[in-house]
Amino acid sequence: MSAEWNLVLVQSAYLVAGILFIFSLKWMNSPQSARRGVWAGVWAMVLGVGGTLLNPAVAVSSLPWIAVAVMLGGLIGVPLSKVPLTAVPQRTALSHAFGGLAAGLVGTAKYYLWLHEGGQNLTTFRMFAISAEVILGFLTFTGSLMAAGKLQEILPGRPITFRGQLLLNFLTLAGAIGCGAALMINPQLSFLFPLLIIFSLAFGIMLIIPIGGADMPTVIALLNAYAGLSAVAMGFVLDNQILVIAGALDGSSGLILSIIMCKAMNRSFTNVLFGAFGSVQDSAGAQTSGAVKSASPAEAAEIMEQADSVVIVPGYGMAVAQAQHRVRELYDQLIKRGIKVKFAVHPVAGRMPGHMNVLLAEADIPYDDLIEMDEINPEMPQVDVVLVLGANDVVNPAAKNNPKSPIHGMPIIEADRAKTVLAVKRSMKPGFAGIDNELYTMDKTLMVFGDAKAVVGDMAKALSGDSGMH
Ligand code: TAP
Repeated sequence: MSAEWNLVLVQSAYLVAGILFIFSLKWMNSPQSARRGVWAGVWAMVLGVGGTLLNPAVAVSSLPWIAVAVMLGGLIGVPLSKVPLTAVPQRTALSHAFGGLAAGLVGTAKYYLWLHEGGQNLTTFRMFAISAEVILGFLTFTGSLMAAGKLQEILPGRPITFRGQLLLNFLTLAGAIGCGAALMINPQLSFLFPLLIIFSLAFGIMLIIPIGGADMPTVIALLNAYAGLSAVAMGFVLDNQILVIAGALDGSSGLILSIIMCKAMNRSFTNVLFGAFGSVQDSAGAQTSGAVKSASPAEAAEIMEQADSVVIVPGYGMAVAQAQHRVRELYDQLIKRGIKVKFAVHPVAGRMPGHMNVLLAEADIPYDDLIEMDEINPEMPQVDVVLVLGANDVVNPAAKNNPKSPIHGMPIIEADRAKTVLAVKRSMKPGFAGIDNELYTMDKTLMVFGDAKAVVGDMAKALSGDSGMH
């Protein structure tokens, strides 16, 4: 094949891959088209990698090495894909870590290669792109490892803070940027390059340690954005358009997601950017007074049977118990009786964005019955029964009523305004934020203790007239 045709082929593959990446994101916006979105992403990736392999710049002698890398990646990636849904946030953080490491290493390799060739290729612009790639890549690497460790509880989830932390963080980042700037002026100052790497690796760690585990999802979305930006910089270093396109999409969608999550958790975005948030968290303001009243699943089913409207608020507990199919049975039983059933979905219920939507879709709950927080809250005072299913922080009235609470200001599903509350969980233990929930001791609340799957199964059975309960 002539060199021109080869170039046309490579560029066409990149162009189609770019279009497919854009459609992939668009289709992933709705559960109905999400599968198509995933496949579009897969094919875009195949075209991107395939196009790169066809590039004449890739020497034939490199192909065996590339094959080894692909196999190694597969060996690590396939087991990683088999984690339960509840562990997806930390798995995603690991993916960002690998992406960041790859970008950092490519930038490092390119710098030393060009330096070895005499340095004339290290133009100011290229040196800028390499520095950006290395800083963002390596900070994403260590930052994402820290985030994964906190979520997996290998590292302590609580914020680690000390005096002068912000200043130290600032100086570390300034050190990395300073090395990058000096290298842009004179790329031959090669002793600065290892320092650039060390400062970037250290900054990634320091950025994450002051942030509490409860804020990790926002941080992961932000690290996603950093990984995307480092890929953009890598695209400029390697002169590879598909990396620029895919990195820009990754970076901007990560940024948009972190802004949405900040709003959902009432976190200031500037605080996230400077790694200062989470440090204000302590368990101050946690208080529960009043008696706890409980009911059996059958009694709870009876209460729901009398209702005209039931709103189910799913949370992390439903995910851990894998109760979604039992929820479907309960839904069917209630609908059969002419009761209006809706699901109130909080944007950060569970452990990742869209967690509840995915589980409920898996159980074929009609998507139209999933109502977002802002839409359901005004209806709450008219709702006869709210069934809180393994949700805790996202229905905690302290977010509205207690200025001392660490989650004060976080928007919640206002279950406390419904006429009756049924809350399913195994104990009176707090949720992810580690704070008590006064909803459980309100006069209108009945606790139904037990594993969500067993309890909801028993509720559905009680309604279907089958007495063989657990
Ligand atoms: P949580 O506040 O974590 O509460 C979940 C509740 O489920 C716990 O109180 C627990 O009580 C109960 N539970 C656990 N296993 C159960 C089981 N097998 N059966 C029945 N109940 C069970 O959950 P949430 O209300 O969904 O709030 C989410 C929290 O996670 C928020 O603080 C949010 O900021 C944070 N977070 C969210 C994300 C995203 S993006 N979604 C990511 C990371 C963190 P028992 O132990 O008494 O059963």
